[in-house]
Amino acid sequence: MGNPAITLPSYDVLDAGDPLERLLRISADTTLSWLPELGGYLVTGYEDVLSAMKHPGMRSAVATRVFARLPEADQEALRRLRLSIDMWMGHATEEGHHRFQKLLKRYFTPAIINGLRPRVRELTGELLDAVAADGRMDVVPDLAFPLPANVIADMLGMPTSDRDRLREWSRHIMAVFQHADVEKLMASQDSVLEMQDYLREIVADRRVSPRDDLISMFAAAEREGVVNEDEIVANCVLLLFAGHETTATLISRGLQLLMANPDQLELLVSRPELNRSAIEEMMRHGGPATSVIRETIEPVTIAGHDIPAGEHIYLAIHTANHDPTVFADPMRFDITRKNNRHLGFGMGSYYCLGAALARVESDECFRLLLSRYPNIRPATDQAPVDVPLPPFGRRLDSLPVEF
Ligand code: HEM
Repeated sequence: MGNPAITLPSYDVLDAGDPLERLLRISADTTLSWLPELGGYLVTGYEDVLSAMKHPGMRSAVATRVFARLPEADQEALRRLRLSIDMWMGHATEEGHHRFQKLLKRYFTPAIINGLRPRVRELTGELLDAVAADGRMDVVPDLAFPLPANVIADMLGMPTSDRDRLREWSRHIMAVFQHADVEKLMASQDSVLEMQDYLREIVADRRVSPRDDLISMFAAAEREGVVNEDEIVANCVLLLFAGHETTATLISRGLQLLMANPDQLELLVSRPELNRSAIEEMMRHGGPATSVIRETIEPVTIAGHDIPAGEHIYLAIHTANHDPTVFADPMRFDITRKNNRHLGFGMGSYYCLGAALARVESDECFRLLLSRYPNIRPATDQAPVDVPLPPFGRRLDSLPVEF
């Protein structure tokens, strides 16, 4: 590693405070900086983030980032977690990544995903029925968190009685994406291993009695020699964590934004045809993925600065989505915003596989929620508390509402 601190502004990002406000402050100063605590670069401007996302000289670096910072003994203790992560979307090699993209496109087709709409509506209805008589709910545990987990449980063909286990696993596995300590990563590893063992039984069943679910699709691909059992279970774990907390955050943050902007909530209630554009604005303004991480595999130039191979680069989606040179009045939450080219689902070769699914889930959820409870409002005067998820994330654990 060179010494970027000599030529670039550098920032501490792990201290207390709102990580997104900090990112926006950095972004107002510069598009490229150095983060000494993380030993990586940070890119904040829209055009630079976009071109880095599309750059063939960089690859996704989740695994190396999690493990490289740990002492060797901890890395060894977490060996089985790493083995699983290395299989996610075949990221370890370009051939593997293409193989998985092609394979998963068999399931994530527009026809299959749109075909899930009635079921998503039904699952949303079940959750809303459960709180209807109370006239109030906590949106996070009662709706936003269980809905995407239940959709994924259905996709994987899990029985309804096992849904709670799925949610528990998911929470632990998320530690992989935060600047978590070894204890949390060990809990993550335990959950990954438990979930994989559980899934092996479903795979065995679908080999002999295929159904209309994702694991049956994987079992068919296994027969063709495209994928093996370890890869199947590892990638089901990936789909769980990739699609659960992200979509849950979109729903809870999206509703928080609507309630904080009553004119926009009123507009959406009176014009439900704006639902899709409202969801794109939720993705831009308060999107769940606030950054992604890359590793340079060859020397690259970003914002006029040469970066050697083997460096880590954080691409700040949140600041790109608030770049005033691309989005007029970027801090304004405007559900009628036109030409909303947000980067909330990434771009380029790692573009979100589940973007259409997340859009279907949130579309159905908001349509039903607002048609049933058009006068939904915060149940308390206190602003909801954000839990910071270092380095650049945050999560809402509670959003009490009345309706
Ligand atoms: C609002 C919800 C979601 C958000 C904000 C989101 C965000 C993202 C982002 C930003 C990426 C790019 C990562 C990178 O560039 O390194 C990504 C990739 C991915 N997402 Fe999503 N996602 C969401 C929902 C889902 C769902 C529902 C699924 C599937 C069930 C899913 C599966 C994936 C997978 C498998 C990848 C990796 C794609 C690849 O490497 O080729 N996501 N997502």
